[in-house]
Amino acid sequence: MTFLFNSDATRGAIFREVLAREIPDLPFEIDPAQVDADEVRYMITWLVPPDLGAYRNIEILFSIGAGIDQFNAASVPASVKIVRMVEDGIVRMMQEYVALAVLALHRSWTVYLDQQRQQLWRAIPQPQAHVRRIGVLGLGLLGRAVLERLKPFGFPLSGWSRSRHAIDGVTTYHGADGLDAILAVTDILVCLLPLTEETRGLLNAELLAKLPRGASLVQTGRGAQLEQAALLGALDSGHLAGAVLDVTDPEPLPTDHPLWRHPRVLITPHVASVTQPEAAALAVAANIKRHRAGLDPVGLVDRSRGY
Ligand code: NDP
Ligand code: OXD
Repeated sequence: MTFLFNSDATRGAIFREVLAREIPDLPFEIDPAQVDADEVRYMITWLVPPDLGAYRNIEILFSIGAGIDQFNAASVPASVKIVRMVEDGIVRMMQEYVALAVLALHRSWTVYLDQQRQQLWRAIPQPQAHVRRIGVLGLGLLGRAVLERLKPFGFPLSGWSRSRHAIDGVTTYHGADGLDAILAVTDILVCLLPLTEETRGLLNAELLAKLPRGASLVQTGRGAQLEQAALLGALDSGHLAGAVLDVTDPEPLPTDHPLWRHPRVLITPHVASVTQPEAAALAVAANIKRHRAGLDPVGLVDRSRGY
């Protein structure tokens, strides 16, 4: 029974140390050439390796990230549990990033950065937080954590999900009807949805048009959820005031892509959250212990939903 670490050696060394401490009876390997494939029960990876079929006795395939859309789940035998990364560092970093992005848009920082480049000293009328409505698409681990972090600022908060949720201090919506309803009352839209067949291209021209004039977007989900040409159109027509993008399609954007130079757009290179190796290794160890005890791992992916 072996744990195979299929990622960079630096993180691998941390995983080796943590797993040796937490599950001393579990052999650990980084180099696939050194293992008997039949012995591998657990693997952690970013992408599904093309030779996954060689590991006939694998029980859990762990994603090194919180999202699993980069996995081709169809290529993973149904008997193998797919588990995404759930660890506190990812949650805290996402809370910081979205709070930063929402405040930047709320306080017109895209405009002020542009004005600075022009050496222009001009104040912009500033609405107070209690009239700036924030809508979060996705009420999972990250969407809920972000809403919690935004509460003290006094923004009116809403959230949207597939199934019905009740969250103290947040107006919640769900399903297709709920989407139109939340868009109509959102000035800063935050996307924290997983990428699935249902959410691919969801942030399109039709959706952006349903936001009130002057609204802004924070995209921290996955690049393929946003139709970038539609965003550019909405910014250039003045319908949208600004956007903060942590994810794009492709990543990185081509150097000549107009989003790079758009004066109302802030771009970061997919860094909103970064998996913290020590905490991630502890989370994986805890999940292996749960699995050995006959419990479902935390972060088990529901293949029928795709997340
Ligand atoms: P969760 O699985 O915990 O939550 C997903 C949420 O999205 C749920 O509320 C779910 O609804 C909702 N949802 C899914 N599909 C739909 C749909 N078709 N319509 C409406 N709501 C839907 O995920 P996390 O919160 O942990 O993470 C969300 C995503 O954030 C990840 O999948 C990843 O893509 C992205 N991410 C980005 C990072 C970055 O650095 N930019 C870092 C980490 C994650 P319901 O509650 O009803 O199931
Ligand atoms: C993740 C990410 O899924 O970094 O963890 O986007």
